[in-house]
Amino acid sequence: MKEVISMLLPSYSEARKRTKSNSIKEFYEMNPLFSKIGNGRKYYIKTYGCQMNEHDTENIKAILDDLGFVECNDYLNADLVLLNTCSIRENAHNKAFGMLGRLKHVKQLNKSLIVGLCGCMAQEEVVVEEIMKKYKWVDFVFGTHNIHRLPYILNDLLVSGKQKIEVYSKEGNIVEGMPVKRENKYKAYVNIMYGCDKFCTYCIVPYTRGKQRSRCKDDIINEIIDLLENGYQEVTLLGQNVNAYGKDFSFSYNLENLLEDVAKTGIPRIRFMTSHPWDFTDGMINVIKKYDNIMPSIHLPVQSGSSKILKLMGRRYTKEDYLILFNKLKCIPNVSISTDIIVGFPSETDDDFNETLNLVDYCKFDNAFTFIFSPRVGTPAAKLKDITSLEEKERRLHILNEKVNTYFLENNKKMIGKKLKVLVDGVSDKENMLYGYTETNKLINFIGNLNLIGKIVEVEVTDAKTWSLDGKIV
Ligand code: 5AD
Ligand code: SF4
Repeated sequence: MKEVISMLLPSYSEARKRTKSNSIKEFYEMNPLFSKIGNGRKYYIKTYGCQMNEHDTENIKAILDDLGFVECNDYLNADLVLLNTCSIRENAHNKAFGMLGRLKHVKQLNKSLIVGLCGCMAQEEVVVEEIMKKYKWVDFVFGTHNIHRLPYILNDLLVSGKQKIEVYSKEGNIVEGMPVKRENKYKAYVNIMYGCDKFCTYCIVPYTRGKQRSRCKDDIINEIIDLLENGYQEVTLLGQNVNAYGKDFSFSYNLENLLEDVAKTGIPRIRFMTSHPWDFTDGMINVIKKYDNIMPSIHLPVQSGSSKILKLMGRRYTKEDYLILFNKLKCIPNVSISTDIIVGFPSETDDDFNETLNLVDYCKFDNAFTFIFSPRVGTPAAKLKDITSLEEKERRLHILNEKVNTYFLENNKKMIGKKLKVLVDGVSDKENMLYGYTETNKLINFIGNLNLIGKIVEVEVTDAKTWSLDGKIV
């Protein structure tokens, strides 16, 4: 059994609270005395979940490098394994706990292996309780609000050899200047805000990521200018609900203004995600239309086609509201619209589900991520009576998936013969082929020279599949 050095634990009731106070900015600082604590030890990070987590991993890797750790790509060879976890649905939990199970065996063979857990699961009371009860051999846990504390956490752990759990229940300051080790040389994630105040009844994010805090315009723009100077072609502005950007400022500056300012930097491609229909304004739509470097590709989760279910979900719009916005967005030339849909929400009837299918028939989404409702402890929807069997929910998901897939293919087929601008990402799994993404975020494979990687080229679409296109360089 491992002794515990110190504990700071998450609390749902604290995480739920929202205060009016403005976010405070602080700057990341690392004590230079820590720069060698890694001592060449190899680290491996397994990342689960969304782009926000992927980007957090880019910060964590840079911090570990600065501490003298060295990245490796196989957890079996690593001296330190960190799981950056996701709690959005039960299966994300299960995957992380499954990996912990495997790591327990590895640690039995290699006693000096250091195992850590961070990310959204670390913000959950139930998870940390379980780690403390059943996974005492896990060496350290930290949350989404204190990534900047990693040098201190690891130093304490290495000096004492005792378990270290440090999770803030509530969001802290916005930390600027954290180092970042980006995965891609041409496409970058840029956080524009943290947290979410929407509290959709099924969603754990407002608890695990805290209150909405927008980053200052100047910090965002300076980061993008720096990326541009370093050859980056594309930025994705990240937030749980980017359309609410700036609502926490005491002055008037919103996503419409930010998109325009980012567009003016001249970065060739700008994407943003995720949007909530509630906060999408006409001004934002006009800015997207106005600037060629704002990609006409919008992720607009609908969640359900039934207004009754949307109300229970706390989404703050009806099916009709969604469709009005959808039709406005469709006026953006060549736009592609993708969505998220949950089936089997408590009390969803066949009629409700059919409304979702009808909405899909109307919208013919370019892409859709579909899920079965997963009750998350601490959220209001987890307490709703749910009589639909899992079998029935799986049936609904299957029918929905068949339908969305037919539209992916139908939309892709319309692209055949078109010449599209493609940012070349790398070498495709298909032999001798490159792959990249169109402005509307469609994956395309084509034959081309390796020196095209990182460039924007014109490709003619020659064939269409459900999830990708084939093409040839023009
Ligand atoms: N169960 C199922 N799906 C969920 N999502 C969020 N929370 C849940 C949940 N409890 C889905 C939503 C969201 C996407 C990121 O994950 O569709 O848009
Ligand atoms: Fe979750 Fe998105 Fe709703 Fe926020 S807006 S509560 S992140 S589903």
